[in-house]
Amino acid sequence: MDITQKLSQLKQQQRYRTLKEVHHIEGKTIRLGERDYINFTSNDYLGLAQLPLNIKDFSSYIEEFGNNLASSRLVSGNSTLYTKIEELLSQHFNFEDAVIMNSGYDANLALFNAFKGEDVIAFSDSENHASIIDGLKLSRISKEIYPHLNYQDLERRLAAHPNSTKLIVTDSVFSTNGDLADIEYLVELKRQFPNTWLIVDDSHGLGLDFFDDYQNIYVVTASLSKSVGAHGGVILCSELFKELLVNTGRALIYSSSMPTTNLYFILRNIQAMIDEPNRRQHLKHLSRYFNEQLFACLGKKCALETPIKSIEFDNHDEAESYYQALMGAGILVSYFRYPTVSHPTLRFSLTYYHQKSDVDRLFQIILKQKEDEETDV
Ligand SMILES: Cc1ncc(COP(=O)(O)O)c(C=O)c1O
Repeated sequence: MDITQKLSQLKQQQRYRTLKEVHHIEGKTIRLGERDYINFTSNDYLGLAQLPLNIKDFSSYIEEFGNNLASSRLVSGNSTLYTKIEELLSQHFNFEDAVIMNSGYDANLALFNAFKGEDVIAFSDSENHASIIDGLKLSRISKEIYPHLNYQDLERRLAAHPNSTKLIVTDSVFSTNGDLADIEYLVELKRQFPNTWLIVDDSHGLGLDFFDDYQNIYVVTASLSKSVGAHGGVILCSELFKELLVNTGRALIYSSSMPTTNLYFILRNIQAMIDEPNRRQHLKHLSRYFNEQLFACLGKKCALETPIKSIEFDNHDEAESYYQALMGAGILVSYFRYPTVSHPTLRFSLTYYHQKSDVDRLFQIILKQKEDEETDV
């Protein structure tokens, strides 16, 4: 393999990526190199990652448990903090049980291990997260991909397999554009077709109250590195399914448990997520305000209250010019390209730290760039 050639190919295809070094973070502000930017790239939607540290409380945890049990959960890494977190999450979200994993990615890998070798077919949304795609692949599960949010197509596919166990698998909030799956509709489909289980990845919706509850969803997976603002993943499920996961989930069995420090932050942040509803209310107001500005400035309609917003472009040059204009004005957004998305996309994530004035500033730059492009034509 010629590595240099491979890299230059990626550059030619405008798919080349680089790592940016972060020097400081404070509220909505992120410092890259020597420059501060308004950060529209963070998935810390509720601002919990920046809760002030209670040193006394923190050090008492470390004194009790050490920093790291240095073993897998099945050997001797299963500190009582795991049990506390799993009880808190399963009670709050109305599940019998929960399994904390090292990441949301691992949660999806372990989840599908449970179905390996079984006569099941997974019906997966075409824009589901890569960890779902990889989980299905690694466990060699038969799958059918239905077009994004096209539930009529999904229905036809489910009807064609009356005798198999069917898994409907979807993200709740889609990570690149903020689309929301219609969980109520999927629950209806599940009822309509016997032997159908609903599995939802709620990584970008956990704790943001987009659904009344998770009833009728068989398993929910989620990252704890986004709205929870810590690091890890969770699988919410029945006691019986947990027993199966503990026996089949390779990402759980063959990976060390998380450091105690990390479990401390998960526990602390979940408690704050439950106790401080004002955080999600602020986010929803901001999301609605963003939608109003999107319509006023670009004529684009969006009625969703999710914290992820996006603008798709026809080509890389156009997307790049908007991205650079925003960077030039001190605004950091995410720029997604193929294979993450089919069209070049700028993604804006709203957090508890943003104010309406930040959204105004964002649209000021977008409008200016639009005018510049129009006068150039
Ligand atoms: C929908 C979805 N599922 C799973 C993951 C993986 O979560 P984690 O970052 O905790 O591995 C992500 C994160 O990028 C995601 O967006």
